[in-house]
Amino acid sequence: MDPIKNHKTNSIPAPEPEKTKISLSQSYASLLNGNSEWVKTQLTKDPDYFTKLSKGQSPEVLWIGCSDSRVPANEVTNTNPGEVFVHRNIANVCVHTDMNMLSVLDYAVNVLKVKHVIVAGHYGCGGVAAALSKKQFGLIDNWLRNIKDVYRLHSHELDRITDEEQRVNRLVELNVMEQVYNVCKSTIIQNAWKERSDLQIHGWVIDLKTGLIKDQKVSSSGPRNLGYVYELDDVEAAAH
Ligand code: CO
Repeated sequence: MDPIKNHKTNSIPAPEPEKTKISLSQSYASLLNGNSEWVKTQLTKDPDYFTKLSKGQSPEVLWIGCSDSRVPANEVTNTNPGEVFVHRNIANVCVHTDMNMLSVLDYAVNVLKVKHVIVAGHYGCGGVAAALSKKQFGLIDNWLRNIKDVYRLHSHELDRITDEEQRVNRLVELNVMEQVYNVCKSTIIQNAWKERSDLQIHGWVIDLKTGLIKDQKVSSSGPRNLGYVYELDDVEAAAH
């Protein structure tokens, strides 16, 4: 008996989608309607828009931002699809054990050859506020521990700020600076800097009350400010 044919005969059919059982909410339906509208608008502006878009991407920017629904990378920078490669997580944390972030960073830097990596936080960040409090929220507490570590580094400054909103916003800034430092410390960026001089890492904070971006002026284009603890030799040199 033909094993492939036999396999087909005995295979379990995929379950039929529940076409009629699920009632779709208005908020869900509006997403698909919104997509139709967007396609129409884009095609009105440029009939070849999707033909061009489907050919590939060559973004010059990697955006590492917060998952917060109010800070979409393209909208706040007035850029188009294809211009910004995006990674987002709660409170824009960059830790060297996060395989997801590292994969995005490595692909962006070494394959797409982006010229700018931007860590973008935002004032009023719920993740940062949670890290300043003693409340438990569940699994996310382990993720936010990374921000508590930033709090510990700057507790002398933060604990002197009596206004709660200001204290959160200052930690938002300090967190962005620390995450920029974390990106710079990564082997991905250190090795890229050995070969390229056109790769810059930046830290931004978005002010949701004005929409404006505040550059934290911690941009780096080389390993000068890493400190001897984190500076790495070439892989070959280290092996000898
Ligand atoms: Co946030």
